[in-house]
Amino acid sequence: MRMRLNIAIDGPVGAGKSSVSDETARRLGILHLDTGAMYRALGLTALRKHVDVQDEHAITDLCRNLGVSVSHEADGQHTFVQGEDVTGLIRTPEVSMAASTVSRYAEVRKEMVRIQQKLAAETDMLVDGRDICTTVLPNATAKIYLTASAEERARRRWLEMQEKGEKDTFEEVLSELKKRDEQDMNRAVEPLRKAEDAVLVDSTHLSFEETVQEILRIVEEKRHG
Ligand code: DC
Repeated sequence: MRMRLNIAIDGPVGAGKSSVSDETARRLGILHLDTGAMYRALGLTALRKHVDVQDEHAITDLCRNLGVSVSHEADGQHTFVQGEDVTGLIRTPEVSMAASTVSRYAEVRKEMVRIQQKLAAETDMLVDGRDICTTVLPNATAKIYLTASAEERARRRWLEMQEKGEKDTFEEVLSELKKRDEQDMNRAVEPLRKAEDAVLVDSTHLSFEETVQEILRIVEEKRHG
């Protein structure tokens, strides 16, 4: 029997993970699971229900009853909470910060990892996040750590925001990004780090297409030796 094709991509905020993962999965003809969306769904629900994101006990309870699910449509992944499509609501800066905070909690991570492993066992999938190479799919076919300098990541994020008409300055975007990096890399449970056997792809000086090509090259190498 052919081995399940699972590709794991980790990296910090703004490294181009989501768009690069989307395109790479499309070219490989497999699904792309955006795991950040699941932590965002929890962050959004906490904000909506006025549950204090600093209250680990309350957030853990909320997570157990979250009923988070995803589906893959022609326009990409949709994320649901108790059947409600929250895809359009989880990309705000408030939800980003809340997601980063709630993702610190061990029981939250355990629950999310359980769901992600189940999904990846069922289907060929490219999974992107922070702990995919280290924890969710340690035996993935290919493991990649995608990064870029903080300035370049902030610049990309800022350009995206400008296109949407958002008014934040480059300095504000850079400072927010560094704050989230700090929180994601220094949490006690499963901090963001490169797995020893993950291949480093630094996209600071690579175009989008070059980044996708590099990842496809690594995947082919791992698949066929
Ligand atoms: O990738 P993202 O920005 O959508 O992720 C939102 C937050 O969720 C991020 O600050 C860290 C957290 N996260 C995580 O801890 N583990 C993952 N596998 C994915 C995201």
